[in-house]
Amino acid sequence: MPGLFDPLAIRDLNFANRVFVSPMCQYSSQDGYANDWHLVHLGSRAVGGAGLIFTEATAVLPEGRISPQDLGIWDDKHIEMLSRIVGFIHEQGSIAGMQLAHAGRKASTRRPWETPGTVPENEGGWKKVVAPSALRFADNYPMPQALTLDGIQEVVSAFAAAARRACQAGFRVVEIHAAHGYLIHEFLSPLSNWDIEQSIKLAGQLKRMGVDLIDCSSGGNVAHAKIPVGPGYQTAFAQKIRHEAEIMTGAVGMITSPVQAEHIIRTGQADAVIIAREFLRDPYWPLRAARELEQPIAWPVQYLRAAPKGAQPRVPVDLKSFESCFEEQHGVPERRGARRSREQ
Ligand SMILES: Cc1cc2nc3c(=O)[nH]c(=O)nc-3n(C[C@H](O)[C@H](O)[C@H](O)COP(=O)(O)O)c2cc1C
Repeated sequence: MPGLFDPLAIRDLNFANRVFVSPMCQYSSQDGYANDWHLVHLGSRAVGGAGLIFTEATAVLPEGRISPQDLGIWDDKHIEMLSRIVGFIHEQGSIAGMQLAHAGRKASTRRPWETPGTVPENEGGWKKVVAPSALRFADNYPMPQALTLDGIQEVVSAFAAAARRACQAGFRVVEIHAAHGYLIHEFLSPLSNWDIEQSIKLAGQLKRMGVDLIDCSSGGNVAHAKIPVGPGYQTAFAQKIRHEAEIMTGAVGMITSPVQAEHIIRTGQADAVIIAREFLRDPYWPLRAARELEQPIAWPVQYLRAAPKGAQPRVPVDLKSFESCFEEQHGVPERRGARRSREQ
């Protein structure tokens, strides 16, 4: 079995190690634009040496934002700053990934550090909150409108267009957010009958559709759910899906120590660990973990004087052109349509 600091190959990508940065909302954008905060926030985790760095949930439509301050990619104008961030991440030998999201019935709400509840229109909120059914998440959340079939198609197209823009910005990985009670998760569950056995079945279907890796998280779908959390509390989901659906998985949830992370990989429970809060405490976690586990990891050339003896300098990721990146992607309908119309 490989270890935490062994590379992971998926398609033509080679991740330098199996420590991934989990998507984490920063609620720090205006009109969906990335800014200096995102550059420093994501950039410092790249300096820290993570193999893959996910952006926060990035809205595919303005009404698909959780809060008015969410990051977005519904407009070509969002691409420029994102590509600057991607360039920095790839310079550091990490791979940049984007989580594409639609908040569904949990949209137009306040940031976690504000009083919880709906944001009214005069404070930047919006009326067009949509969901599979007109059922609200909680009393202080917006009442959603049930999506029509045309409305669903519009969301599907928005995901496809966003994937194309992510690719154009240079992201080499796209994660579809289908957890935590947001739009796709809402479709997957009438209340929540969506359990591990059905998740295994779905994972098998997703594999056939070209999905490479399942980021195994849970919760957030109904307000009253009480989830017993503790170290590695979701790792069993990653293990079961990996073995039974025979698809690569990432384990997420209270993975904090290098030995714990190494154990998850060495025992074949997951192909990568996807860490969130511990990366907020220590953006250089991979550098620390590699020292603790006595594993090699490349250091930024600027920091080599502080690195363990024999450490190698970082090698940038070879960034392919948008066109060749695009050719390798699966199921991005607009683009295929565009190519067909060019050929006609
Ligand atoms: C500040 C913060 C923001 C988060 N935002 C997202 C997000 O945008 N998308 C997502 O899928 N999960 C999000 N999560 C959940 C984490 O990605 C992760 O699944 C969860 O925190 C458990 O992992 P941990 O114990 O390593 O923190 C967020 C978590 C935190 C702490």
